[in-house]
Amino acid sequence: MKAQIAFLPGDGVGPEVLAEARRVLATIGRKFDHTFEIVEGDIGGIAIEKHDAPLPQPTIDLCRKSDAVLLGAVGDKKYDSLPAAKKPERGLLELRTLLGNFANLRPVFVFDPLADSSNVRPEVVRGVDILFVRELLGGIYFGTPRFREGDRAVDTEVYTVEEVRRVSRVAFELARTRKKHVTSVDKANVLETSILWRQTVAEVAKEFPDVLLDNLYVDNCAMQLILRPKQFDVIVTNNLFGDILSDEGGVLAGSLGMLPSASVGGPAGFYEPVHGSAPDIAGTGKANPIGAIASAGMMLEYSFKLPELAARVHRAIAAVIEKGYRTADIVSPGKSLLTTTQMGETICKAIEAGD
Ligand code: IPM
Ligand code: MN
Repeated sequence: MKAQIAFLPGDGVGPEVLAEARRVLATIGRKFDHTFEIVEGDIGGIAIEKHDAPLPQPTIDLCRKSDAVLLGAVGDKKYDSLPAAKKPERGLLELRTLLGNFANLRPVFVFDPLADSSNVRPEVVRGVDILFVRELLGGIYFGTPRFREGDRAVDTEVYTVEEVRRVSRVAFELARTRKKHVTSVDKANVLETSILWRQTVAEVAKEFPDVLLDNLYVDNCAMQLILRPKQFDVIVTNNLFGDILSDEGGVLAGSLGMLPSASVGGPAGFYEPVHGSAPDIAGTGKANPIGAIASAGMMLEYSFKLPELAARVHRAIAAVIEKGYRTADIVSPGKSLLTTTQMGETICKAIEAGD
């Protein structure tokens, strides 16, 4: 197979973690005879510096003609005082919209040896395997009006039935390949958009009689995720709740640095680790590249329909963790501390060895 991948390293630790995802794709390409042609583009703060826009036209053109897009991270404190419309993050939001990927898949998988790296008790997190399906193109992130007027600021939460329907279908379809259980998360005791959300999900559920649906309010879900996370299989929720709850998932997995994501629904899949640009540790070798590497794994599965190779990447990560290799965020006494690069190299060796 031959494919073109747009690589958007972005800011902070983005370039470091993407370099390791690139190493893994090169290893997979060599070993299994696939050609991944990687072309880099600018996004976020670096794009503001070089092109005066967080999502410059050459990056848009590159992404449009690529088969898939892999992003590192965007954002830097330096832009804190800019209005929302000019921040590096705006480039990411524009790109998500442009690519039309409305379903953001964020698996939270607890590798067994990391069960005691979490701040939540090992017996609570061991065996957790949750798939968040976050609506990515609607809700309060994009609703209008949105403005600042002196001492008053307004954001607007909007959802249409169709927006809820399409993301719920993705959640139910994926649940069919897992434990056939969908939990829909909303705030239907307060918000009109959430009432529409809950009704629409219930309608869609009728198309999937083999899948169990239950509903939780978001405040309760935030608590249940820590209290009894093993009750969950697929969690479908709106853009903002999905953003917040998936960071909580990072605590279960031992570190946000472990979590990958895939955004699907548009013509070209979009992949990015769940973590941010972490400018405080950029350039120190402390960043965990596993989220980015596992995102490349999700690309193999969802964009290139190579599930057996995606499984190899997952197995290699599991093997490396099993052998006691750790980056700074998940290290504990008696384990081997690796830099970002060393972790990427070690995972490549495990792929080569067929671990
Ligand atoms: C994420 C991030 C983004 C979001 C930011 C950087 C715009 O937090 O992907 O989770 O809120 O969606
Ligand atoms: Mn987030």
